[in-house]
Amino acid sequence: MQKIVIEGGVPLHGEVQISGAKNAVLPILCATLLADGPVEIGNVPHLHDVVTTAKLLGELGAGITIDEGTIEFDGRRRKGSGIVVDPRSVRSHIAPYELVKTMRASILVLGPLLAKYGAAEVSLPGGCAIGSRPVDLHIKAMQALGAEVTVEHGFIKASAARLRGAVVRFDVVSVGATENALMAASLAAGTTVIENAALEPEIVDLADCLIALGADIEGAGTSQIVIRGVERLRGGTHSVLPDRIETGTFLVAAAMTGGRITTLKSRPDTLHAVLELLQETGAVIETQDDRITLDMRGRRPRAVSFSTAPHPAFPTDMQAQFMAMNCIADGVGTIAETIFENRFMHVQELQRLGADIHIDGHTATVHGIAQLSGAPVMATDLRASASLVLAGLVAEGETIIDRIYHLDRGYENIEEKLSGLGARIRRVSA
Ligand code: EPZ
Repeated sequence: MQKIVIEGGVPLHGEVQISGAKNAVLPILCATLLADGPVEIGNVPHLHDVVTTAKLLGELGAGITIDEGTIEFDGRRRKGSGIVVDPRSVRSHIAPYELVKTMRASILVLGPLLAKYGAAEVSLPGGCAIGSRPVDLHIKAMQALGAEVTVEHGFIKASAARLRGAVVRFDVVSVGATENALMAASLAAGTTVIENAALEPEIVDLADCLIALGADIEGAGTSQIVIRGVERLRGGTHSVLPDRIETGTFLVAAAMTGGRITTLKSRPDTLHAVLELLQETGAVIETQDDRITLDMRGRRPRAVSFSTAPHPAFPTDMQAQFMAMNCIADGVGTIAETIFENRFMHVQELQRLGADIHIDGHTATVHGIAQLSGAPVMATDLRASASLVLAGLVAEGETIIDRIYHLDRGYENIEEKLSGLGARIRRVSA
């Protein structure tokens, strides 16, 4: 079991390169199943969830080539790791429990398998630390597109001779269900209108990839997406957009430690709500088209209050990181988590570091203290583990974080990147 050990107290300085977005590359990998030729994906982050998804595609029979170094796309060879998926050898349409139970995003093969092969059997993903994570909206979307869907023995079983275009209206905004509907509708007969669609930038990136393969999609990034189904999607190439949550996590690290950093290969336009809240803490922020500089030298963050909500509002995936900042901020901040029912698992671990946090239902009230004190803590889910790393960067003494496999699901080489900014952080095998 590996652990991360951090010696707190170093203000971060320098530049850090942002990797491709986890929450874009996962649906995009699933979308390759829709094509009838190889699909080359660039700027792929080295994440455990990417390996799991590649394994799942391999299980289905697709050919997978991991291309370290450079890949060719847009007529240019570019540095950056790539994956080529060749779906022409797909033979199975069953996503097994052994893989699905480790990553709920596996549900995103449902729409592509159904649209391309007329059948899909996907294990129910089950819950996870942050909530029950139901998939009813995914199932309703497939049924709206004409699929027969049953749920039995822990599996979703879906079939359709040919999906047909329809109005798919979501009562609850769902990123994953919007993505499944978008992918399935791309090959359906006729026109589909997705209403109350999620607006996340990762959905726009997925749509851009599908359009590069020949899909006819308008409105991605708005609450109404119109998809005119086509007969087939060809092979092609796409480069994944930068990860806005990784970007936000590093910016919070700089704000908490009183440093100054620049994130490179990032997209300021995808995290306005995060940048605005960082400015409320007193951070000075300058942006250019592919970089963000945050300066908090010599200053302690002011406490901030916020509520998570679907994009473009403040993202739930940044809640734990801002809670860590509130722990050492000047003042009292209240945090309302409105998306997931149990996304405060990091609270008790932050309290072990001395944080003064009180939870009342879905709201946490954080009284900032001058300094946290290092201690052994345990990661429980991906973004909770990020908040513990952030807390360790400012805690007095040594913080040891256990179960960091959670961290490796969503952050590429985080200790190398933080070390490059001056942090005293190392990974040890315990
Ligand atoms: C995506 O999860 C992200 N994961 C999550 O990131 C992110 O927190 C979430 O969107 C919200 O932005 C990926 O993109 C791989 P939802 P997803 O469907 O699609 C309820 C991270 O840390 N719901 O938008 O699963 C659900 O319970 C991860 O990177 C239903 O009720 O989220 C939640 O309350 C964590 N029925 C709300 O909708 C459904 O069928 C929003 O969930 C589906 C969802």
